[in-house]
Order: sequence, then structure tokens, then C-alpha cells
Amino acid sequence: MKKLTVLSIMAASFLLVGCGDSATGAEAKAATEHKTESTMKCGEGKCGNAKKTETTKKCGEGKCGGDKKSAATEAKEAATTAVEKTKEAVAQKASEVKEAATKAVESVKEKASSAVDSAKAAAASAASAATAAVAAATASGPDGKAIFAKCAGCHGADGKTKAMGKAPLLAGQAEADLETKIKAYKAGTRNEHGMGMLMKGQVASLSDADIKAVATYISGLK
Ligand code: HEC
Repeated sequence: MKKLTVLSIMAASFLLVGCGDSATGAEAKAATEHKTESTMKCGEGKCGNAKKTETTKKCGEGKCGGDKKSAATEAKEAATTAVEKTKEAVAQKASEVKEAATKAVESVKEKASSAVDSAKAAAASAASAATAAVAAATASGPDGKAIFAKCAGCHGADGKTKAMGKAPLLAGQAEADLETKIKAYKAGTRNEHGMGMLMKGQVASLSDADIKAVATYISGLK
């Protein structure tokens, strides 16, 4: 039994050595093949090292991990750049919108203020026109034509009607004579045809200026 064991060990050793040699030879062959052939066929478990080498070579020259890493970095950078560009564009657009809004508000303000200004100017000119009209009316004094309107019923619009069938025609009479006669009726001192009191009632409310104005108007009637 002991002998057999020893023999067995020896046999095993020989086998191992032989296999080892054979494996080494295969490795060397595989390495050589790998050097000459770009594509290498493994599959029998004998070229494990070569396969490993190939894998290592593929990834060891920065073509696997390195590439992946740099691609990821590039994508990240591109994304960052895109985000920054978008941010810039948004900021630019926002500032443009803000500017436009500010301009719109300013133009509305301007229009409103100019509208207020023109309203003020219109009010001022209306006021000055009114003042001028009042001044003109005051300067020109009583309106003789307007006063004569109430006399025309008896004396005629043209002063050529014989009032109550008795009074002489007023048209053609001198301004001074008319003024004197009207003032006399007002004072109650004139009564040529028994109608002096009637005439007094017609002219009682007239001022000296009114009497002068209406006398001037009547003297102008042709
Ligand atoms: C209701 C009619 C009537 C009205 C209105 C009237 N008159 Fe007479 N007027 C007479 C009569 C009538 C006489 C004559 C009076 C008299 O007897 O002296 C007269 C006389 C006169 C005379 C004198 C004429 C002359 O030469 O003798 C004058 C001037 C006169 N009127 C002016 C006026 C004026 C101005 C008014 C208006 C503010 C006026 N009258 C309104 C009826 C009227």
C-alpha cells in the first residue's frame, strides 16, 4: 500500500509537470498568436491569460473606462453649458420684457401728462376767452339794438311805425333829440299826445347809458 501511494504521488507529479509544461507552451503559443492576430479565438480554457491580456489591453489604453469617463464628463459639460446658455437667454429675455414694460409705462405716463397739460391749456384758454368776452361786453356798454327790441312792438323794427297811431316816426330823428325825449318821458315831463305816462313805463328802467345806446341805435335806422 505504501509503495502504491508513493507511485501514485510520483505519477501525479509527472503528470502535473507534463501538464504544466504543456500549459506553458500553450500560453506562449497563445501570446504569439495574440501578437500576430488582431482577433483571437479562445474557448478551451487554455488561453485564459491571453484572453485576460486582450481584455486588459482593450480597457487598459484608455479606450474603455477612460472613454466612458470623458464621454460622461463631456455630456455633463455640454449639459452645464446648455443650462447656462438657457439661463442667459432667459435672463436676456426677462430684461428685454422688463425694458419694454418700462417703456410702455413711461409712454403712458407721458401721454397722460400731455393730456393733462392740454386739458389745462384748454381750460386756461377758455377762461381767458371768457374774460375777454366779459371785458369786450363791458367795454362796448349796453346793446342799443337789444334794448330797442321791446320798443319795436309799437315803433316798428325799422322805427317807421306811428306808435298807437299818434307818435311821430322815430326813424330819421337825431340821436341827441331822441335821447332828450326819452329822458323826458322817464322823468315824466313829456306828454305830447296824452301817452306820456305810457312811454314813461317803457323807459323807466333804462339807465342813462341804456338811453344813449338805444338813441344811437334808433338814429342809425334808415
Ligand atoms: C306800447 C307802445 C309803445 C312802446 C312799447 C314804446 N313806445 Fe315810444 N311812444 C309810444 C307813444 C304812444 C308815444 C307818444 C307819447 C306821447 O304822447 O308823447 C311814444 C313816443 C315816443 C318817442 C317820442 C317821439 C317823438 O318824436 O315825439 C320816443 C323817442 C319813443 N317813444 C321811444 C320809445 C322807446 C325807446 C321805446 C322802447 C324802450 C318805446 N318808445 C316804446 C308808444 C310806445
